[in-house]
Amino acid sequence: MMRVSVRHTLRTAALACALGAVALAAPARAQEAPVPPKQNWSFNGPFGAFDMASVQRGFAVYQNVCSNCHSMNLLHYRDLAGIGLTPEQIKAVAASFTVPLGLDDQGQPIEGPALPSSQFRAPFPNEKAARAAMGGALPPDLSLIFNAREYHGDYIYALLTGYADPPADMKMQAGMHYNKYFPGHQIAMPQPLHGGDVSFPGNAPNTLDAEAHDVVNFLAWASNPEMTTRKQIGVRVVLFLALMTGLTYAVKRQIWSDAH
Ligand code: HEC
Repeated sequence: MMRVSVRHTLRTAALACALGAVALAAPARAQEAPVPPKQNWSFNGPFGAFDMASVQRGFAVYQNVCSNCHSMNLLHYRDLAGIGLTPEQIKAVAASFTVPLGLDDQGQPIEGPALPSSQFRAPFPNEKAARAAMGGALPPDLSLIFNAREYHGDYIYALLTGYADPPADMKMQAGMHYNKYFPGHQIAMPQPLHGGDVSFPGNAPNTLDAEAHDVVNFLAWASNPEMTTRKQIGVRVVLFLALMTGLTYAVKRQIWSDAH
């Protein structure tokens, strides 16, 4: 009996130590990369919606800059109807890219202008080619990157604007760039945006800050194209439930009014 309880105590103590170690390790890991500052996103909150003008500018940033290294395999050009492009605009955007179009009658691979039904053109034929071109690093597919990273838009914005000279005591590996917000601070992606990389219609600002905000808005839409509709339905459902609660309460009072 005694031995069992000693063993039990030991086991509990070991478990407590293990949990303690995990709890201590967590803040240490968090210190590696600072928490990105919160940004003001129009899609935050229960009434949030995408700023579609910004999403469209963000697509231009992706198309002109990011798409040189990053694929977005889950998107097809026709999906751009979701950000307000007309069928003619979509045709024109698609046609400006040359993509593989399957095989011809002799079984030879053919290429041609993309169609609205084509997948977004990928910059590299496969992962090996991407790594070979990027010194071993793999630019991740950006279709779902907004959802995939902790702190979502705040992180991606901080990453894009977080390049700086490395501290004097930091030894950088060859081909790596210092970034305040990337875990470990050494990233293989060279600073992609500097401001003035893309000119927008209507002379919308194209500072580094504006371009980074716009491309994050686009990536947020790409990961959650149904978000605005989902939130609108949510608000209507809550209103409906509130109304039904009032109504059923009134009916209950009416039915039981004799008994009181
Ligand atoms: C010259 C090629 C290149 C361009 C242009 C480029 N990237 Fe990257 N990107 C990379 C590489 C390589 C990585 C992988 C970095 C690593 O793992 O060290 C990366 C990683 C990322 C990541 C993931 C970071 C993480 O937490 O893992 C994001 C997000 C990203 N890029 C966004 C963008 C956006 C947005 C643009 C356009 C504004 C862009 N990139 C333009 C090469 C590029």
